[in-house]
Amino acid sequence: MMVKIGRARAHTNIALIKYWGKRDERLVLPMNSSLSLTLDSLYTETEVVFNRDVDMDYFYLDGKIQDVESTNRVSRFLDLFRNAADMGEFAIVKSKNYVPTGAGLASSASGFAALAAAANIASGLNLDDRELSIYARQGSGSATRSIYGGFVEWRKGIDCWDSYAVAIDDGKWDIGMVIVIVNPREKRISSREGMKRTLHTSPFYGSWVESAKEDLRNIKIAIEERDIESIGRIAESNSFKMHATMLGANPPLLYWEPETIEVMEIVHELREQGLPCYFTMDAGPNVKILCRLSDAERIRSSLEQVFKPEQIIVAGSGPGIAIL
Ligand code: PMV
Repeated sequence: MMVKIGRARAHTNIALIKYWGKRDERLVLPMNSSLSLTLDSLYTETEVVFNRDVDMDYFYLDGKIQDVESTNRVSRFLDLFRNAADMGEFAIVKSKNYVPTGAGLASSASGFAALAAAANIASGLNLDDRELSIYARQGSGSATRSIYGGFVEWRKGIDCWDSYAVAIDDGKWDIGMVIVIVNPREKRISSREGMKRTLHTSPFYGSWVESAKEDLRNIKIAIEERDIESIGRIAESNSFKMHATMLGANPPLLYWEPETIEVMEIVHELREQGLPCYFTMDAGPNVKILCRLSDAERIRSSLEQVFKPEQIIVAGSGPGIAIL
């Protein structure tokens, strides 16, 4: 029995300047560049075993065999590696998510980054991090950024081989996030569908892309200066603009729930008390609060007056992919 095996871990990332819309669906080329923070406490570990003796690809997530749709997505992704390495073996993929799946916490980012890193080892391709970022992108856009730790920019590029992430700051300073799981259930409309609808129907889409460019320029300066107030203000505004653009879609996309707004109010109150904290939201109702890591426990205790302890996750800035 000939088996080829690879194991890797990748951490999730939360975008501060969002990616929302593709200019090429198949290659996953984005309309705008984006920027994120990789988190330490949320990650995925994946094992890929290519085996001549199996008759198809099998995909297990948290010990459960996955349906045809998810398995096909993994298969199509593994084809990139199989084609490049000129190999025909099917694979058994086992992933464990240390992040609630489909809760708007970007499990697809850590998922496809870990899968790329594990498949890279198992296929013997030996891609470098930049190439891995290009491969991961084709599984899920946000995964392109999870190859690296700290603050990461995904440069939209001009073609398939020119759209990848770069690490811009290791994030090894007093910065972190408090995540409030408002609702852990699967999102109703996937980001893939949501962005397509927004791009094709929202009259605000063009302005969103333009203002994201300016936000990216400004946040990079703020990161360089470690100016948490400016980083937070820009990120919060960028997230609001993305959601405003979604509301302009037809039919409109509203990912918020009543508790989402409750979290926003708590954040506003804390800010009025002089504590710098700012929120950002993705394609789901959960809220991620950007803050100094040293302030996270104070934020947690305010949130615990309304939310259950298990709804709150504190995360610092995390590392890039690791081979296990
Ligand atoms: O990578 P996807 O297709 O799950 O899209 C992610 C989209 C957002 O999370 C809303 C924004 C982002 O840049 O991560």
